[in-house]
Amino acid sequence: MYYSEDLIEEIRMKNDIVDVISGYVRLRKKGSSYFGLCPFHNEKSPSFSVSRSKQMYYCFGCGAGGNVFTFLMEYENFSFVEAVQYLADRAGVELPKMEYSKEAKEKADLKATLLEINKTAAQYFYIQLKSERGKTAHTYLTERGLSESTIKAFGLGFSNKYSDDLYRYLRSKGYSEDLIRQAGLISTDEKNGVYDKFWNRVMFPIMDVNSKVIGFGGRVMGDAKPKYLNSPETVIFDKSRNLYGLNRARSSRKPYFLVCEGYMDVISLHQAGFTNAVASLGTALTTGHASLIKRYVKEVYLTYDSDEAGTRAALRAVPIMREAGIAAKVIRMEPYKDPDEFIKNLGAEEFEKRIENARNGFMFGLEMLSRDYNMEQPEEKTAFFREVARRLIGFEDELERNNYVEAVAKAYHVGVESLQKLVTKTAIHDGMAKPVSRPKQPGEDHIKKEDGIRTSQKILLTWLIDMPKLFGTVEKYIAPEDFTEELYKTVAQLLYEQYRSGEVNPARLLNHFTEEGEHREAAALFNTRIRELSTSEERERALKETILKVKSNSIDQQTRNLNPTDMAGLQRLMEAKQKLQDLTKLHISLD
Ligand code: UTP
Ligand code: MN
Repeated sequence: MYYSEDLIEEIRMKNDIVDVISGYVRLRKKGSSYFGLCPFHNEKSPSFSVSRSKQMYYCFGCGAGGNVFTFLMEYENFSFVEAVQYLADRAGVELPKMEYSKEAKEKADLKATLLEINKTAAQYFYIQLKSERGKTAHTYLTERGLSESTIKAFGLGFSNKYSDDLYRYLRSKGYSEDLIRQAGLISTDEKNGVYDKFWNRVMFPIMDVNSKVIGFGGRVMGDAKPKYLNSPETVIFDKSRNLYGLNRARSSRKPYFLVCEGYMDVISLHQAGFTNAVASLGTALTTGHASLIKRYVKEVYLTYDSDEAGTRAALRAVPIMREAGIAAKVIRMEPYKDPDEFIKNLGAEEFEKRIENARNGFMFGLEMLSRDYNMEQPEEKTAFFREVARRLIGFEDELERNNYVEAVAKAYHVGVESLQKLVTKTAIHDGMAKPVSRPKQPGEDHIKKEDGIRTSQKILLTWLIDMPKLFGTVEKYIAPEDFTEELYKTVAQLLYEQYRSGEVNPARLLNHFTEEGEHREAAALFNTRIRELSTSEERERALKETILKVKSNSIDQQTRNLNPTDMAGLQRLMEAKQKLQDLTKLHISLD
């Protein structure tokens, strides 16, 4: 915790959320709230609301929401501390010098210096490209169809033939050998001493979402190997949490990203007007990438190379995306190798058509699967549909599964009903209604149960936040300590305090969470709406069940942790259990 909670609260109060957000979104007053087009998803009619009285925002379309700090964290990709600093500055609040621990300070300084070194190197490469020495490299890029403004926008450069001139340049700027090494720009060997990692290559600076240079890719201008050399991972360069082109794609305002494989693909697509293209950094797509993408869009179009490796990579990416809640479609580049060559040969309009005709990721997977089976052979055809059925079981949502059953039946000319039967039979045969593609991990059931408990605790908090009048009832049965999930316990403690002091203030409560991940998770609690349950009896029953679950889990946990000699403790728990029994008979009124 860097700043005191009072100070953070002062800064929050001095930055009216309506004023701050108005700087980014055109807002109009409607009733007691302000409405505008949501900056976090693409929409035509405004479902993004900002409340001056609550000092919170919420989007009814995508569920984004939080206080003024959350907004800047999401919109500007600030950390919590950065958001605080920005708003302090905006409101003219003087901040005390941050009291870092020595270690944290060194780490922050190191990161800043490495970013500086990379920026200096990128500038050096750019100047080299523009100079006489960089002529071949410049011609290489122009011959590949890149315009001057594209070269500039992506900051492309050239590392010349002298194998240590970047090193000498950076030394002359006062950076130590050790720091230059930590930035990943030099290597050493016994024979040659220190030498530049990149030389005689076209340079692609790799930037983070905030356009800070965190590493480089360098391409040979001929056929030598390796074709691309990339910076090693450093304290500022994490390949699984950054995407090439994201700094530009994030503001493209399209509701999806085009995810491709290569730097050149991204650049060509941007140049052709597809400013929503990104690529991974010479590695496969990971769940880290998926959660990064999810901050900006809910859908991706995979535009991978047409070769075997590209196809396999696309097939692997589909489930990674789905698990993160991102829908994936697949665009094929045939008869060309990759998006870059496609655009060069057929142009942007044809590419647009491919986007329109993109195939659903699941269906694409089946198509690839079908290649392994000879559909003329009855046994093989049956085996194919068995595997299809297995994959269909992977859709837990019944409606979604049925939609896919229908689509598959149509595409492969079989009856919907017989396919449906096969799915059910396969599910029974495999003993579960869960995906079989992934073997069950030991302890997975346990994880499931944990998830259920987490969900109950989350739902209960949502009830409390949404319906203040429930507090009196819930408080009788549930104490903050009954939330076994650490984050929820803290939220509960703060919320209970606010209720008891008679002033419920979610915007203030959120200040407490200064770590990005926690802040987002806490903010999400305030954005969750209780699933529409039609009748009030249903809602009352649901609330009662939730209270019961949370409490009995808490009692179970306390029982497990009880010291066997603690008779008084045991007595207390037995009483709590008894009280739980009473609760089942209780009538909770929500009206
Ligand atoms: P490709 O071989 O498909 O290259 O590699 P490309 O992007 O089409 O490049 P051009 O058009 O030949 O210039 C795709 C991506 O894989 C990584 C790079 O990130 C590249 O953009 N890669 C490839 C490497 O990291 N090293 C290599 O040697 C090759
Ligand atoms: Mn290419």
